[in-house]
Amino acid sequence: MRLLDGKRLSKQLLLTLKDEISKTYASSLKRPGLCVLRIGEDPASKIYVNKKIQTCNELGIQSSELHLDAGITQSELLKQIICLNQDPAIHGILIQLPLPKHLNSSSPLEAVSPLKDVDGFHPTNLGRLMIGEAELIPCTPLGIMSLLDENSIEIKGKRAVVIGRSRIVGRPISLLLDQAGATVTVVHLQTSHPEALCKEADILVAAAGKPNLVGKNHIKEGVVIVDVGIHRTDSGKLIGDVNFEEVKELASAITPVPGGVGPMTVCSLMQNTWKAFCRLENIRADDS
Ligand code: GUN
Repeated sequence: MRLLDGKRLSKQLLLTLKDEISKTYASSLKRPGLCVLRIGEDPASKIYVNKKIQTCNELGIQSSELHLDAGITQSELLKQIICLNQDPAIHGILIQLPLPKHLNSSSPLEAVSPLKDVDGFHPTNLGRLMIGEAELIPCTPLGIMSLLDENSIEIKGKRAVVIGRSRIVGRPISLLLDQAGATVTVVHLQTSHPEALCKEADILVAAAGKPNLVGKNHIKEGVVIVDVGIHRTDSGKLIGDVNFEEVKELASAITPVPGGVGPMTVCSLMQNTWKAFCRLENIRADDS
């Protein structure tokens, strides 16, 4: 069984990006700028945002965190987003999810300029993805495709099963796998006999948000497993949606948790920020 090592690949991709950013800065004195909005006090969000800001710093991307009070109103939040849309030093805007319960997430996500939407969650970017003309692709699905590609995992003609249909992962990854030539089935809470469907998969993407959901009864021998879940057990260990111990003998390749999909998500965010910057500043990616 092969481990699909996202930590190693993301390090390698980020080094290349760091080099491009520094060459562009040397010739233009311009740097990409990313603003991350964090609303309220969700502890996991704080950790994720810190990681994103730290990676920006390592790469030479100008980053800022706008931390807003949990009690902010919808209209105050929209005003902040409009300000960021107009700020020429900001090329990427990310609203860390989940939002506090009283806020509806659709309208803030739609208020972000599609040109600065480095999460790829704006309906314009999701619509482009739908018609096969993607510009900014949601970070986790983009990272998964890159991990499969770099590990020479064949997608064309394969049966792919995606567990979960969220806007962040399930829906976009099912489109990307479909566009890469897989026959895709999406399994969700209303699906009858999910195990039987999962067993048909050559590529199984687990993005259900349920610890250890996928076990040996869900898979066939030789499957490639992508585990998007990340959960902390009572003893402090990080585990995924897949019961690693149960499937490791049967799978041909699997992403570890941690060190698989997580680092690729951050890497894709940096790549999207670079892409948005190049487009907004009229810099060709190969100018540097
Ligand atoms: N919360 C969990 N995953 C994500 C993500 O990819 N982007 C944002 N903005 N929030 C998240």
